[in-house]
Amino acid sequence: MKTTQTIKNKKFLRILAIETSCDETSAAIAEIKNLSSNNLDINIISNIVSSQIKLHAKYGGVFPELASREHVKNILPVIEECLNSQAIKKTNLFDSIDYIAVTQGPGLIGSLLVGVEAAKTLSFVFNKPLIPVHHVAGHIYANFINSLPDSSNIYPQFPLIALVVSGGHTSLIYMKNHFHFEVIGETLDDAAGEAYDKVASMLGLSYPGGPVIDNIASKYKSSKADKTIKQTANLFPRPLLNQNNFNFSFSGLKTSVLYFLKKQNKPFKKSLVSQVCFEFQEAVTDVLIIKTLKAAKKYHVSSIIVCGGVSANRRLRDKFQEKVTRYNKKNNINIYLHFPARSLSTDNAAMIAAAASYQILAGKTHTWYNINANANQSLSSMH
Ligand code: KG4
Ligand code: ZN
Repeated sequence: MKTTQTIKNKKFLRILAIETSCDETSAAIAEIKNLSSNNLDINIISNIVSSQIKLHAKYGGVFPELASREHVKNILPVIEECLNSQAIKKTNLFDSIDYIAVTQGPGLIGSLLVGVEAAKTLSFVFNKPLIPVHHVAGHIYANFINSLPDSSNIYPQFPLIALVVSGGHTSLIYMKNHFHFEVIGETLDDAAGEAYDKVASMLGLSYPGGPVIDNIASKYKSSKADKTIKQTANLFPRPLLNQNNFNFSFSGLKTSVLYFLKKQNKPFKKSLVSQVCFEFQEAVTDVLIIKTLKAAKKYHVSSIIVCGGVSANRRLRDKFQEKVTRYNKKNNINIYLHFPARSLSTDNAAMIAAAASYQILAGKTHTWYNINANANQSLSSMH
């Protein structure tokens, strides 16, 4: 096994990463440079994502058994497509790949098993070290990828707060350094992305609801609000906003949308649907941003990272930037706000390669025989 020092002396290293924790089969190759520094230069050479969205749309959510069968079908073609990418076509891949990385957990066990077993097989056959990655760490480390056109050109600075908002997670995580994850708040019920998906389904919109609500809400103008709704204040509540902790709850918000819709005539008018999308999104983004800023203040952080599928949301991005800029000005400080490149917000293997690269730098490599999929893996196992 390579020591950290020999790695630091190398010009670059290449990682083949695999992600199959939910309903995306993904493989990526990353070339890591600047190995002697603490800020790695992570270049994504290839990042293939095969989404199962169409398959699950008719069920309004991910159907676990179907997801794992689909991963079995897709895993090798996706890896093959990734390996055939232009940049590495002429070289012998297994002379140039140094590490295999894979999402170990958390996620759907049937889905995880497909990626983990594929990665273990490659690691065994080609005698490459295996790097097991926590899915949420992957989302966080997507913010350390600096090679995509819309990625941030400033590295996240420690200490930092990471807001992880996806279909399965809504957490605030304090990191005083690489891989020191302290979960300071979590959702008590639904995840933010799950609330987006459920509200979209109540409105008769397609799955996944996040991008659909994002689009409809961005076109909403209050002058075109539904005339039958007398709105004097916020239409929906901001759950747990004034509580003295960093937890979230989105199930009550979802229920309040449901009760509101029960009072409306069906089929819902277009103007009503766009007003509900807008108002729901304002409620979710207010809670996410205000709670994160409170945490940033308490923990005196230098950076805020936002990641996970919901971090693709344009309103969340714009509103967050506005609020952080105002907060910095008012307090005469400079907290950096980081979002991943939009293509890396939702599940992908490039983010797994990014987390793996910092694990390698810290000397955390393994051989295939002690790695198993873990549906309930906790972040503290990464320390
Ligand atoms: O990170 P991700 O791909 O998978 C999980 O780990 O859960 O996140 C998927 C979630 C879905 O709930 C989806 O509706 C939401 O991210 N999402 C969005 C947007 N794009 C995806 N939510 C709000 N706005 C978006 N633009
Ligand atoms: Zn995810």
